[in-house]
Amino acid sequence: MTAFTRRDALAGLSLLGLAACGDGGGGGAPGPAPLPSPSPTPTPTPTPSATISSAAAAKRMRFGSTFAWSAAGADAGSFANPAYAALLERDCQLLVPENEMKWEYQSSAEGVYDWTRADAMLAYAESKGMEMRGHTLLWYIQERLPAWLRTYDMGLNPRATAERLVRSHVEATTRHFGNRIKSWDVVNEAVDPATGQVRSNILHTAVGGDTSILDLAFRTARAELPTAELVYNDYMDWGSTTHRNGVLTLLQGFRSRNVPVDTLGIQSHIGFYSSGTAQSIADAQIPGMRAWLDQVVALGYKLKITEFDVSDRNRTGTIAQRDQDVAVYGRAWLDLLMSYPALTDVLVWGMNDKYSWLQTFSPRPDGLPLRPLPYDANASPKPLYDAIVAAFQATTARP
Ligand code: XIL
Repeated sequence: MTAFTRRDALAGLSLLGLAACGDGGGGGAPGPAPLPSPSPTPTPTPTPSATISSAAAAKRMRFGSTFAWSAAGADAGSFANPAYAALLERDCQLLVPENEMKWEYQSSAEGVYDWTRADAMLAYAESKGMEMRGHTLLWYIQERLPAWLRTYDMGLNPRATAERLVRSHVEATTRHFGNRIKSWDVVNEAVDPATGQVRSNILHTAVGGDTSILDLAFRTARAELPTAELVYNDYMDWGSTTHRNGVLTLLQGFRSRNVPVDTLGIQSHIGFYSSGTAQSIADAQIPGMRAWLDQVVALGYKLKITEFDVSDRNRTGTIAQRDQDVAVYGRAWLDLLMSYPALTDVLVWGMNDKYSWLQTFSPRPDGLPLRPLPYDANASPKPLYDAIVAAFQATTARP
């Protein structure tokens, strides 16, 4: 049923580093000034088509993307790559680091953090008037905990040890960034898609398998950041009923225990896992997903699309056909989610196909590059870009 066992293979994945395919079409760089012409012809201006940024703003919504740190000028989905930064600055109001705030990657030993990269990314976002989200305080998968923690000696009082580790991590991290981060993915992927139960890991085992570590992460974050948006983030999509129902149970539990969770982050890594046209597959899935979303918002949660991409892994045909399928399926997903006024923010997991995590995480069997994002490898907008614009245009303005 679920198509997401792929995540179990996350361990050992390295950062993306795809073969270069040219420098991308930043475009617009003026050449040497020509001699004045006696009868100048007017400069042709391209027909201004709506941008994602303007379409989102018109509805008082926000659009954003993940981005990465790299050395200046590196061929990467980084703010330090001018061709990629141009896309961020054209379309985004929100940014979120792909890996640079994760406990696993930034903590080499207990209490030791390297926030150099995240600090540089936050400074960039602020310098461009964009807001940076925090991702993530606690990725609740054993292999996604820092290496030193995966084998930690929990001692004679494992519960106290686990609680101390989580509390001090959340405090240290939120204190470092303070109020400059206004929205945090506090807990990421705590529900096992195969069973719907909360996942097991060294912290979870230490407290005897209850939800107290999750609750503690949110309560500590709230104590540190009284006004920040606190998000539970997961990848349940419209095909995985067991996963979805497990997340709903978790969300109900948060409410009944008065755990301060504001928002459900719906990652939205969607793709094709049955046959048919893109529209027919979506049509079959929408009612079940809508019934589930209705229950989530009835509990008082806001919604946020946090990591949208549309994998064309299982689609054949020409590039034009695959791009069309991605646009149609992506549009159906966006229309469904945007029909909830509780959703105001949409973030993609990358702007440019070239740097998508999916290229290494879940490649196409035929070896062709995947095309899951709004821009192609040459930084030209694709039908998915237009679908995102159209979805914003079609939705109701937020208050
Ligand atoms: C991914 C990154 O894109 C990869 O570079 C890294 O190797 C693994 O993590 N769900 C999440 C994100 O919440 O943090 C993941 O990001 C993608 C799936």
